[in-house]
Amino acid sequence: MNDASLPARPLLFTPMTIRGITLPNRTVVAPMVQYRARDGHPGDFHFVHLGKFALGRFGIVMTEATAVEARGRVTHGCPGIWSDEHIPAWRRITDYIRAEGSVPAMQLAHAGRKGATHRAQENTRPYDAKDAWPVVGPTTEPTSAGHHIPHALTAPEIADIVRAFADAARRAEAAGFDAIEIHSAHGYLLASFLSPICNTRNDQYGGDRAGRMRFPLEVTRAVRSVWPMHKPLFFRVSALDGADGWNLDDTVALALELKALGVDVVDCSSGGLTGTATAAPIPRHPGFQVPFAATVRKAGVPSMAVGLILDGPQAEKILRDGDADLIAIGRQALYDPFWALHAAEALGCDPGFGMWPDEYGWWLAKRSQSLVRA
Ligand SMILES: Cc1cc2nc3c(=O)[nH]c(=O)nc-3n(C[C@H](O)[C@H](O)[C@H](O)COP(=O)(O)O)c2cc1C
Repeated sequence: MNDASLPARPLLFTPMTIRGITLPNRTVVAPMVQYRARDGHPGDFHFVHLGKFALGRFGIVMTEATAVEARGRVTHGCPGIWSDEHIPAWRRITDYIRAEGSVPAMQLAHAGRKGATHRAQENTRPYDAKDAWPVVGPTTEPTSAGHHIPHALTAPEIADIVRAFADAARRAEAAGFDAIEIHSAHGYLLASFLSPICNTRNDQYGGDRAGRMRFPLEVTRAVRSVWPMHKPLFFRVSALDGADGWNLDDTVALALELKALGVDVVDCSSGGLTGTATAAPIPRHPGFQVPFAATVRKAGVPSMAVGLILDGPQAEKILRDGDADLIAIGRQALYDPFWALHAAEALGCDPGFGMWPDEYGWWLAKRSQSLVRA
């Protein structure tokens, strides 16, 4: 039997090397806030929550939005990496993810003017004064009526936040992460600088597109300068801001600049300038954001697709069509933490449960034989 007679291995389960890190497959757990941290520290919940996705053999297991400053959290329950004291708890999690064969990744975030609110489950209602903290943004315009009035960041304060991102990246390395993603989507701090709808500044951080991109690009440059050269750097953008301020042409222009600064993958989400991350600006149907990832990739920048990607054949088609390099799975992973293994089964590349943890797979293979005999 030669190779030509073997069924082609699905692209979804073909390993991929980015810089010096090899992903065992092209599935990624999308960042998903859980609101279960204490003073920024992840706990047993996060160990189990993230660990089970590694047991489920996702290629990359990414943390939820992790704040680079305490005031960059959305809620009191959001995790952080603004202090060295956060490192050991994350280290315990990354050690486990790596031991199971997945790649641990951290999403670095700053909520900006969308901070100091209750959970999405409580409609991100702003905290009362006794629970809130001062939030920051490009201007004093709130994210929507009734939300906190942000402090408009000065240029030196922006420089402090750039440093906070870089310090957070250094801590992420110390905590054992092998990839990081800069969160510049969904109307949080960096995204709020990109869109002219909320960035009406007239200094060097506002105005034309170059001015509005300056802060996110400074963050990228600072993070890349401390993040090890052999480790991948991702960047999440809202390809459309959902308010007709930032469009796909802007996203391509940004993606090309990011690539020049050493970003390896642009993760293409959309919307959220106001409201939640899942409040999309375009009709939602399976794969609704794939065209954004496809456009970025066609411009020569590797991309990740996300948004209502539900099963292995759908994910495989996105890769085969050349629309994205990686596939991020959000809610479908909450529904099925073994999504990646079920996708492999559906694509016919794991008939004997060999990709499963041996403690499960051996038994499942025996069960299959029993079922065949029965
Ligand atoms: C519970 C939950 C929490 C989320 N938290 C984040 C987050 O921390 N950072 C982020 O960039 N996106 C966040 N998102 C958006 C997801 O990463 C993803 O882009 C979105 O859910 C669409 O993908 P899906 O249809 O596969 O769920 C969150 C989504 C959900 C459902």
